[in-house]
Amino acid sequence: MTRIKVNVDGTTYEDDVEPRLLLAHYLRDHLGLTGTPIGCDTSNCGACTVDLDGATVKSCSVLAVQADGCEVTTVQGLAEDGQWTPLQRAFHEQHGLQCGYCTPGMIMAARDLLRENPHPTSDEVRHALEGNLCRCTGYQNIVRAVLAAAGQQHASGRQVGEEITA
Ligand code: FES
Ligand code: FES
Repeated sequence: MTRIKVNVDGTTYEDDVEPRLLLAHYLRDHLGLTGTPIGCDTSNCGACTVDLDGATVKSCSVLAVQADGCEVTTVQGLAEDGQWTPLQRAFHEQHGLQCGYCTPGMIMAARDLLRENPHPTSDEVRHALEGNLCRCTGYQNIVRAVLAAAGQQHASGRQVGEEITA
């Protein structure tokens, strides 16, 4: 077992873990953060996407020990004081989800895109999300949601990670 110390969604955890334990399983099974789903375990679907020290990663392709000393943000850490971010709200308002299984990964990947490119085109959104699969094939509304979030961000002057209270 290896001792790790990880900050996840603003809370610091210390745990003894098997060196082969995947970060996705650590989040879900050790910390109970089941908002990060596992859709394939083979790095194909993107459902398990999280932010690791500012880099967007598929948590099923990272070992928990690799996150030692790092900050992890999951979809559960985005809202503040119960208020969704513009991106989360846009997914809701634009019907960017059906069963919702892919949604955490889509939101985390889209968040990364909007940090890098606050004015994406539709094609750029599609390109950025190509590592994330939606089995309900709701891609059209997902792209619309990301573009809507970008528009809200410009209109409000807020950043993607900030809450909207009005
Ligand atoms: Fe990680 Fe599918 S569960 S990419
Ligand atoms: Fe069902 Fe995407 S909404 S997998």
